[in-house]
Amino acid sequence: MSQTAESVNGTGPLMAMPTMSGGWPLLGHLPGFLKDPVSLLTRGWNDEGDLFRFKIGLSNFALFTGPEAHDFYFRAAQDELSAKACYQFTVPIFGKGVAYDVAPEVMAEQLGFLFPALRESSMRKYAKIMNQEACLYADSLDEEGQIDLPSVLNEITVRIASHSLIGKEVRHEASSEFAAAYHELQNGINVLGFFFPNVPIAAHRSRDRARQQITEIFSRIMDRRRREGSSEQDFMQTLMEARYKDGRALTDDEISGLLITVLFAGQHTSAILGTWTILELMRDADYLARVREETEELYSETGCVDLANLKQQNTLEYAIREGERLHPPLILLVRKVLKPMAYNGYEIPVGTLAMVSPAVSHRLEHVFADPERFNPDRYAPPAREDKQHHYTLIGFGGGKHRCMGKAFAILQLKVILAVLFDRFDFSFDSSFPLPNYRSWVTGPVEPCRINYKRRSRPAILKTEAA
Ligand code: HEM
Repeated sequence: MSQTAESVNGTGPLMAMPTMSGGWPLLGHLPGFLKDPVSLLTRGWNDEGDLFRFKIGLSNFALFTGPEAHDFYFRAAQDELSAKACYQFTVPIFGKGVAYDVAPEVMAEQLGFLFPALRESSMRKYAKIMNQEACLYADSLDEEGQIDLPSVLNEITVRIASHSLIGKEVRHEASSEFAAAYHELQNGINVLGFFFPNVPIAAHRSRDRARQQITEIFSRIMDRRRREGSSEQDFMQTLMEARYKDGRALTDDEISGLLITVLFAGQHTSAILGTWTILELMRDADYLARVREETEELYSETGCVDLANLKQQNTLEYAIREGERLHPPLILLVRKVLKPMAYNGYEIPVGTLAMVSPAVSHRLEHVFADPERFNPDRYAPPAREDKQHHYTLIGFGGGKHRCMGKAFAILQLKVILAVLFDRFDFSFDSSFPLPNYRSWVTGPVEPCRINYKRRSRPAILKTEAA
C-alpha cells in the first residue's frame, strides 16, 4: 500500500522532508505551536507544501496536508502509522483491556460490537431521546437572558449521551452522581498526563477515583438488568449481549471502558461543533432563515421530530458540515511512524509523529472556494465541493480509525439546533469568539456568552417523551 524506504530506494534515493523554518534551539517550534498551532502549521504548508517536518522539543513531527496526502495517511497500515502508540494517555481513562490498551485488531473487534447500536432502528429511538432532552432543556430556560453557549451544549449532549448510550437508569436515577464523576474524569486529561499518564499527582488520583466510581454505577445498572431480565435499546445493552469471536462475553469492566471511550470520543466534540455552528448561523441571518423555513415546512403539521424528517433537513446538515470545516473540534490527529515510510520521494523516519490537521486542510484554496467564508451551499448540488475527493473534509477522521459515531453526532446536532432555533433568537454583545487552543477539543474561548430571547410565535417542535 504505502511505499517503504527500500522499495523507493530501488527507483532513486529518498529525500529528507522539507523543514519548516523558524524553529528555536531546543524548543523547536514549541512557542508558536502553543500560541496558535493552526497559523503556525498553515504557514508551514504555504512555505513547504503537502508534507513537511517540524520539531517540538526533542520530538520530530510531520504534517500531511491536502486530499492526496490524507489518502496516504489514512490508508497506511496500523503497523506503519500507529494510533495506539500516541493515545496511551487514554488508558487510565478508558481502562485496561479496551481501546488503545489492546492490539488494534482487538480494539476494532470491541468497537465493532457497537455497530448494532447504531442501526437505523436504534437511531429512530435516539432521535426521540434527542428531541426530548433538547426540548426539556430549552423549556427550562427563561423568556430571555444570557447563556454560556458551550456550557448549554455540554449539558444537553451529556443528557443525550447518558440517556441513549448508557441508558435511562443513568439519566433518571444516577444523573448528578454520574455527571460529577464524568466531569472529574474529564479533568484528568492534562499535558503532563499526555507524556506520563500514571505519574502520581492529585489530578490523576481523582481521575482514577472517578473512573472507579463510574464503573460502579455502570455495574449496578448491569446487575439490575440481569436480575430483572430487563432489556433496553442502548449502547450498554448492546455490549452486554455482545460476544468475542471465541464466544466470550465482555466483562463489566470492559463494557464500562468501552462506554467511557464512546462518551469521551463523542460528547464534548458534539457540544463544541454545535456551539460553533450556532455561532456561525447567528451571523448569517439569510442562511438561518432558510434553516428555519426548512424546519417549518417539515414539521408544521405534526410537530414531531423523527428520523425520516431529520434525514431531509439538508439545509441544516450543510450548515453543520460547514461548522465542521471551519471549526473542526479535533484540530490535529496524530500517529507514530513504526516502520520506515516514504511519500512522494520523501523519507519519513521511524519515530516521527505524523499528523493531519483538519483545521489547516479545511481552508485550502485549491480545495474549497473562498475558504474563509461560511458558505453551507458549497455542499449542495451542483457545487458539492466536499465530493471532489473522499478526504476533503476530515473533521471525523478517516481510514481505520475514522469516527464511528458521525451519524449519531450529526443527528443529535440537527435535533438540538432545530429545537433551539425554533424556540429562540440569539444575539452577541461582543465580537465573534476566537478559538481556544489550550483545550484538547478546540471550542471558542470561554466564557462565550450570548443573549437569548424566546421567539414571539409558538414553537413548532413539540416536547414529547421518548
Ligand atoms: C461532532 C462530534 C464528533 C467529532 C468531531 C468526532 C471526530 C472524530 C475523529 C476526528 C476521530 C478520529 C480520531 C483519529 O483518527 O485519531 C474519531 C474517532 C472516533 N469517534 Fe468520533 N467524533 C464525534 C462524535 C462521536 C460520537 C457521537 C461517537 C460515539 C457515539 C464517536 C465515537 C468515536 C470513536 C469510538 C472513535 C475511535 C475510532 C477508532 O479509533 O477506531 N465520535 N472521532
